Order: sequence, then structure tokens, then C-alpha cells
Amino acid sequence: MEIKIKALREQMESGLNAISSKKDLDEFWQAFLGKKGAVTALMKDLGQVPKEDRPATGRVINEFKSYVETRYQEARERIEELELSARDKTEQVDITLPASKNKVGSLHPITITKNEMINVFSGMGFEIFEGPEIEDDDHNFTRLNVAKNHPARDMQDTFYVAEDILLRTHTSPGQIRVMDAKKPPIKVLVPGRVFRSDSDATHSPMFHQMEGLVVDKTITLCDLQGMLDAFVKEIFGSDTRTRLRPSYFPFTEPSVEVDVSCFECGGCGCSLCKGTGWIEVLGGGIVHPRVLENCGIDSKEYSGLAFGIGIERIAMLKYGINNISLLYENDLRFLKQFRD
Ligand code: PHE
Repeated sequence: MEIKIKALREQMESGLNAISSKKDLDEFWQAFLGKKGAVTALMKDLGQVPKEDRPATGRVINEFKSYVETRYQEARERIEELELSARDKTEQVDITLPASKNKVGSLHPITITKNEMINVFSGMGFEIFEGPEIEDDDHNFTRLNVAKNHPARDMQDTFYVAEDILLRTHTSPGQIRVMDAKKPPIKVLVPGRVFRSDSDATHSPMFHQMEGLVVDKTITLCDLQGMLDAFVKEIFGSDTRTRLRPSYFPFTEPSVEVDVSCFECGGCGCSLCKGTGWIEVLGGGIVHPRVLENCGIDSKEYSGLAFGIGIERIAMLKYGINNISLLYENDLRFLKQFRD
């Protein structure tokens, strides 16, 4: 038995020296300490040893076994360290490399345009007021001098939530809400979403408007033109000129459509202005006396001006966007272009 162990010890030492990977380590375990390993086999041989020698031989075998286990453990630690340092080399982090960029969002072009518009009017002393998107017939139509069955209702066909409750078709009901809540002088902007049963390349069932309302003692059409002229110069450039054309809205009298000189061709005529040199941008007028009276404001003492600007329209003109749906699809390739 002792000769056997001696031979095994030599075999084990040379086996240990040859270990250079996890795989070698496993093979060593199988060969010596596994179920069919040489050291385990020694234990089985113990049965053939004469009975009186068995305790002593058993002790020798056990000592040898724990010696092999210790050596195996040492080899294992050596291999683990080796593999760790190899990994350190391959997985090194180069801290001098530029960091990967965080993806930062940006404001939507409608928001950018809205903020810019608010900025210009705030400079003229306008305050902001926001009304509800779900309105009643009274605020959206009747008190704005659009009686039931008035043909002007056709221009603003909308979505009804219930009888006489609807999605507002314009921000003009904001005029009524402001005049109900506040005595003149009034100078407010009402930005917000509006809804119409309308859809093509330049119209969407939901879009944004910005209402302006000024009520004071001597407000005239000149004030309207002056304010809007200053506004378009800020938005489209200082060379831009304005032109008022007669129009019709039940809640203003006189009513005007406001055109700006084409900023693409300077007024000579191009595809943007359809050869006319002018681009229509908004509607407005002098608040109809009946609308003032509907809100308890004496129309002999006070007069007002009002205007309504389509925010999409301004954004599309400003950025050269030819289809309104681009503003709602939220395609990142489109949106990314508006990053500051
Ligand atoms: N509310 C009108 C529209 O949506 C615009 C407008 C506002 C006209 C204020 C005159 C005065 O078409």
C-alpha cells in the first residue's frame, strides 16, 4: 500500500504542476479525488488489507487524501488568481475615452412657437389666461354673437359631448370668460387647443390657437394693426409688412383678415404666397358692442380689439412645414430638427 501511495504522490505532484486552467483543475479532481479517482480507489482497497493493519493503513490513506485536497485547493486558488488578472487585462476601462452622450429631449415646434408668441405679446403687457377645452354653447357661440342657427356656425362644425356641450372650436370663448371675471382695462392672451371637424394637409381636427383681447376706453383698429405689425416683425423678420383685408366674424365689427408680406420672395410672388406676395396669417377685429354688453361692459364707454392666431399656421410658415400632420406624428427625425 505504501508503495502505491508513493507512486500516486509522484503522479499527483507532476499532475499539479501541469495545471494551468480551470479545465486542467477539473481533470485533476476527477483523476484523484472524484468518485472514480485514484485516491478514492485506495479507500476501496482497504478491504484487502489484513484486519490488524487496517486502522494504521486507513490513517495513512486519510492523511494522504487530505494532503491531496490541500494541494488541490492551493492549485485552485492559483488558477483563480491567474484568470482574474487575465480578465483585468482584457476588461480594462479606458477612462480617457469620451463619455457616451445622454439623449436629451427638446421642445416640440408648436411649444417653441407658442412660447415665442407669448414672449412677444408679454413684452406689450399681455397677461395669460387659459379657458376649458370642453365648453358650453353659450360661451363658444351664443354670447359671442353667434346665435343658434346662425350660418357662421357652419364654419366651425365641431364635436359635441352632449346637447349644448362641445369641444371649443376656437379660443374666443376665453374672451367671454375673461370679461366675466375682470373689469377693463383688459389685455390678455388665451392660448390653447381647439377642435373642428376638419382634416387635410393644412387642417387638423385638433389644433392650437392664441386669442388676444384688449378692452379699454379708446381702442381702435389702429391699435390692432400696430400690435400685430410689431408681432409679425418679431416672428418673421423686421422687413415684414402687414395688410388688413375686410372679413367677417360675428363677434367683431369691423372684422379683418391680416396678411403679411411674403418673407420668402419679399412680395414679388412665389409658390409660398401663390404669386400674390401676401400670406394670410390671422383674423381679428374690433369687439362687437353686443359681445361687450353680453359681459356687462358698457360699449359706449369701452371698446375692444380681438385677434385669433393659429399656432400651427405660424409654425408651418416659420419652419417651412408643408403638411400639418408632421406636427403630430412625433417622428424623431422630424422633431430632432428643432433642437436649440
Ligand atoms: N375665433 C376666430 C376663428 O377661430 C378668430 C378670431 C378671433 C377672429 C378673434 C376675430 C377675433 O376663426
